[in-house]
Amino acid sequence: MESKMNYSRHRRLRSSKAMRSIVRETTLQPEDFIYPMFVVEGEQIKNEVPSMPGVYQLSIDQLKEEIEAIVSLGIKAIMLFGVPSEKDEQGTGAFTHEGIVQKAIRSVKATFPELLVVADTCLCEYTTHGHCGVIENEDVHNDLSLPLLAKTAVSQAEAGADIIAPSNMMDGFVITIRNALDANGYEHIPIMSYAVKYASSFYGPFRDAADSTPQFGDRKTYQMDPANRLEALREAASDVEEGADFLIVKPALAYLDIIRDVKNNVNVPVVAYNVSGEYAMVKAAAQNGWINEKELVLEKLTAMKRAGATLILTYFAKAAAEWLNE
Ligand code: PBG
Repeated sequence: MESKMNYSRHRRLRSSKAMRSIVRETTLQPEDFIYPMFVVEGEQIKNEVPSMPGVYQLSIDQLKEEIEAIVSLGIKAIMLFGVPSEKDEQGTGAFTHEGIVQKAIRSVKATFPELLVVADTCLCEYTTHGHCGVIENEDVHNDLSLPLLAKTAVSQAEAGADIIAPSNMMDGFVITIRNALDANGYEHIPIMSYAVKYASSFYGPFRDAADSTPQFGDRKTYQMDPANRLEALREAASDVEEGADFLIVKPALAYLDIIRDVKNNVNVPVVAYNVSGEYAMVKAAAQNGWINEKELVLEKLTAMKRAGATLILTYFAKAAAEWLNE
């Protein structure tokens, strides 16, 4: 018999739902997600963020109700952002015992001891100028900002945070925070560093949610230039060397190449931050009936994992977990 091998039959492995499911290379599960949440002072407060439908600023009581729901969906971790009612030049609200995040962490951990609480460690929500550190000569001063970040991290660990996530992009923030945590008996608390964080227009809606828009200038002297790829590898390498236990790449969707590069170059878990602007775009299109939200969201979250993310910080965590559990 003559063989008539002429082309590859790729469609054999796509022929049915079951066939596709046994050869699938990337899967999503609720454990992959970290749910970012915004906490405010007060009681019974649930303010929807206008540019982020379905995302709320919550008072602690409401936060706990929401957490009850997400825990039952199988989500294992949240990230907390505080929106204080008062701000000052130094951002002292970030590191006081009675700070909004410190109170929220204590309350959440008392009710949900198993849930992992990741504390975003930054100053921009707490400073009057909206920048992520101490201002000198119209710019954020690197070394003067580090001790404030260290204080913030220690106060968050003291309140019961399970993971510290410094996001202000100062050089040396990982080693500074590592040393401060260790010196205060928190050597067991991991650091999830926003190692590769671009100066991105995709953060706009977050700044509404967290009330953290810079009051002058921008963040381009501390966050990265979106044009750069090798710089991401330098940022990743130095953070690992300084002791980071996880690395965040942010934003995610327009930076899948960077997620893959970082994944190929480090041996710690890589976390993709699917940021506010990425969320807002999908929501706007869905509200117009222009896309299928469920399919699109699951597709893009899968793409982030395929690119190399072990975990995904996403405002879609709750919805995606619901869809995956269906
Ligand atoms: C704090 C911080 C920001 C985000 C996370 N942590 C804002 C910023 O850098 O301006 C953005 C998250 C998002 O857009 O979803 N520095």
